[in-house]
Amino acid sequence: MKKILVNGGKQLFGSIPISGMKNAALPVIYASLIVSGKCVIENLPMVNDVLVSFDILRAVGVKVEQLSETSVCIDAENAAIAKVPSELSNKIRASYYLLGAELARFEEAEVGLPGGCDFCVRPIDQHIKAFETLGAKVTVDQNAGTIRADVPDCLQGETVFFDTVTVGATINAMLASVCAFGNTVIVNAAREPHVVDLANFLNTCGADIAGAGTDTIKIRGVAQKKLHGCTYAIIPDMIEAGTYMAAVAAAGGDVTITNVIPKHLETISAKLCDMGAKVIEDDTSVRVVSDGKLKHTAIKTLPYPGFATDMQPQFCVLMCLAEGESTLIEGVWANRFKYVDELKRMGAKITVNDKTAKVTGVDKLHSASVRAVDLRAGAAMIIAALCAEATTAVEDVHLIERGYENIVSKLSNVGADIFSLNAGNY
Ligand code: EPZ
Repeated sequence: MKKILVNGGKQLFGSIPISGMKNAALPVIYASLIVSGKCVIENLPMVNDVLVSFDILRAVGVKVEQLSETSVCIDAENAAIAKVPSELSNKIRASYYLLGAELARFEEAEVGLPGGCDFCVRPIDQHIKAFETLGAKVTVDQNAGTIRADVPDCLQGETVFFDTVTVGATINAMLASVCAFGNTVIVNAAREPHVVDLANFLNTCGADIAGAGTDTIKIRGVAQKKLHGCTYAIIPDMIEAGTYMAAVAAAGGDVTITNVIPKHLETISAKLCDMGAKVIEDDTSVRVVSDGKLKHTAIKTLPYPGFATDMQPQFCVLMCLAEGESTLIEGVWANRFKYVDELKRMGAKITVNDKTAKVTGVDKLHSASVRAVDLRAGAAMIIAALCAEATTAVEDVHLIERGYENIVSKLSNVGADIFSLNAGNY
């Protein structure tokens, strides 16, 4: 098993380039299945969730050819309905985008129940509601571990009302309705930049989607044959960028984070400034300057444009090192505080009551052997380790590699004393 070792206490200086956004890349990769023609997807992060998604598409007959370190050509011409091995689909959450994409392409779909970060129970009722509203019959077989959707008549555009704001179900509704007869309206849609990126990709291929980025998305169905291939570059990863911004604020230093869309980072930048760091925006970069001295704050996570839940564990580390008492409320997931026990082993003072954590700042965190309990929690452990005395070992690195490309080299290039060890090395 791989570990990441960090000798803490080094300030960070230089620049960190940001990769394409995992959570934008995944829907676009699955959407390529609907398109008749070759799609060249650029600025892809080659992280594990993306690589598993390529294997899932290959299992249904799609050709995926790597063109460069960050781009692939996806050709779905010979795709056909086929069983995807459950050991593949169970590995990641985004495998459920195959349902929306297969419905659009074949009017039937089947996939194993999705996996992904298990910080809490992750329901899929709104995905099912969207498919059923559009005319599909959905069967969940818990024993077989599969979800199946069939279309007895045809996929028909309709108004889909979401009971809660959900990124995944918004994306699945867009995928399933892009070639439906007539018009679909998604009400209470998620407004995340990755929802907009999917709409832009599909529109570039000939779809007719308006309103992405607002809470009402309108989709005029087009014939599947009319969707043509294109070349498309994925947007930069705002959560990867935010993670490095938090790392610099905590460890101290002066780092320019490049290849970003500063607008997507506004809530993160504002919180870092509240806590005492300096954030200087340019057209495609943000520079973070910090002496490592942080002030307490209060955060509640919310759907975009609110403060991202995927930045919650990283900001908890900042709160652990800030003077005074901070409050952190998880407003998206039922529970996302499993990692708190790991931080406590490093000397953090945190109490959790339901969805609220109270964090009392300490002068120093100390080294320990800690686990990445999920992807973002793992990134938080690395930030804590950068600020801790002596050497911290972070285990279960495969969870971090699901979503962070080259995290060790990106941090060591700005002066962190960080390296990975494979089982054979220790
Ligand atoms: C996406 O998950 C991201 N994953 C998550 O990031 C992120 O935390 C989440 O959006 C919220 O921003 C991917 O994009 C692959 P949701 P998703 O549907 O789509 C409830 C990471 O670290 N809900 O927006 O699965 C749900 O319980 C990952 O990269 C229902 O009630 O999240 C939650 O409370 C972790 N019924 C809320 O909606 C449903 O059918 C938001 O979930 C679906 C969701």
